Amino acid sequence: MIELQHTTKTHDESRQGEALDMRPTGQSTGRKLYIESYGCQMNFSDSEIVASILVDRGFETTKDYKEADVVFINTCSIRENAEQRVRNRLKEFESAKAKNPGMVVGVLGCMAERLKAKFLEEEKLVDVVVGPDAYRDLPNLIEKVDDGSKAVNVLLSREETYADISPVRLNSNGISAFISIMRGCDNMCSFCVVPFTRGRERSRDCGSVVKEAQELFNAGYREVTLLGQNVDSYKYTKPVAEGEAPEPAVNFAQLLAMVAEVSPELRVRFSTSHPKDITDEVLHTMARYENICKYIHLPVQSGSSRVLELMNRTYDREWYMDRVDAIRRIIPMCGISTDVITGFCTETEEEHQETLSMMDYVKYDFAYMFAYSERPGTLAAKRYEDDVPEEVKKRRLTEVVNKQQEHSLYRLQNFVGKVQKVLIEGFSKRSDADYCGRNDQNTMVVFPVDERFKPGQYVEVLAERCTSATLIGRIVT
Ligand code: SAH
Ligand code: SF4
Ligand code: F3S
Repeated sequence: MIELQHTTKTHDESRQGEALDMRPTGQSTGRKLYIESYGCQMNFSDSEIVASILVDRGFETTKDYKEADVVFINTCSIRENAEQRVRNRLKEFESAKAKNPGMVVGVLGCMAERLKAKFLEEEKLVDVVVGPDAYRDLPNLIEKVDDGSKAVNVLLSREETYADISPVRLNSNGISAFISIMRGCDNMCSFCVVPFTRGRERSRDCGSVVKEAQELFNAGYREVTLLGQNVDSYKYTKPVAEGEAPEPAVNFAQLLAMVAEVSPELRVRFSTSHPKDITDEVLHTMARYENICKYIHLPVQSGSSRVLELMNRTYDREWYMDRVDAIRRIIPMCGISTDVITGFCTETEEEHQETLSMMDYVKYDFAYMFAYSERPGTLAAKRYEDDVPEEVKKRRLTEVVNKQQEHSLYRLQNFVGKVQKVLIEGFSKRSDADYCGRNDQNTMVVFPVDERFKPGQYVEVLAERCTSATLIGRIVT
């Protein structure tokens, strides 16, 4: 998943809820919340939960941290440089805090979970440290800080899914939204910090997922992305009341179908698929529903079976290729993207070549590519030496990036001359004379505005040419 960054937009929703403290929910306290997010889409989705919890306590959101009473930074630990960016950003908050000593500065998310109370020692301006499963405690923790103490809650939970919290959509285009369907991760990929920062895997009540999708659709949204670190292991079993017969568990393929049934006009996407768990049942479900987008993010990490074994990915090169073959067979037009790590412990030049040849085999539409970054506490950090020199990791990364550029261009060129069904997301970044939106395979398409169509509508666009990342065309509906 890409590392994204966003800030909140002021929103003017009024919210209702149960009465808390002495004041009715949603009544403004005049206090302003600023929240900035780093890392994967799960973190962005969590920030919307955090905003919801505090808006219910009378906070308003602001997009200017200088005028905020509470400044939150929702952090990522996935690589060393992700953490460095957060530390640099905290430095920038120092002068705002000096001007407004009552300002509460909080660190949320994965770095909070990883560093726990140590954060308070390392970064003096931080008042509150809160892990990803403790956001319901935020109002209470802020109160503690108001009373003059520092506050920490980094308890991980086996149950928390925030299923009942209706997220405040931050920075939304009003058309596409994320829905978290599960939390945590039970895979122990040896390079990865996520199982430590996010805790055990748990699946959210399928009924609450469908309800959220339905509410989004009713509010005009036309695309939802179901989120989890490994969506294919989604499994929800309804708790049984006394005397009731247990219902069979709902798996990911079934959940996908349930969400797709909300409306044929609602596009359904999902991320991330794990090669070891993606089933033909999921692929057939995708093929069956026109509105489930034909796009799969299937991180390979490495093309070498030996490296995959050290990474503890629990599949090998042949297994991965078989899954790609199954996708091509069952969903011929499917877009496939991936994540690649270069220079993992002991990776040889030949093994790196195997990653390149895997890329040639799949010809990914898109890839997120990283040089290996050792994370404290992970299995790899404990067991293996981080022995590939930095310049070798970087050189291999460049080779992987160059190869991907060729493949992205190849895939884009294949779309040229063909008509794409595009959901209009809004005006293009460059010009208000153009709309932008994505095709089924998640490729960005830019085309001149046609007054007959508004964002949120589907149009047929003939792709006439492409740049390295975008299709350019015109509406032919
Ligand atoms: N759950 C997803 C990945 C989440 S992390 C999955 O299993 O695919 C997103 C990506 O970050 C990973 O796919 C991996 O490519 C990369 N990543 C994770 N840990 C890393 C590390 N220590 N160094 C470099 N890249 C890493
Ligand atoms: Fe990390 Fe592996 Fe879990 Fe993905 S599946 S979050 S890479 S441990
Ligand atoms: Fe996501 Fe980064 Fe945490 S990728 S799960 S925010 S470590």
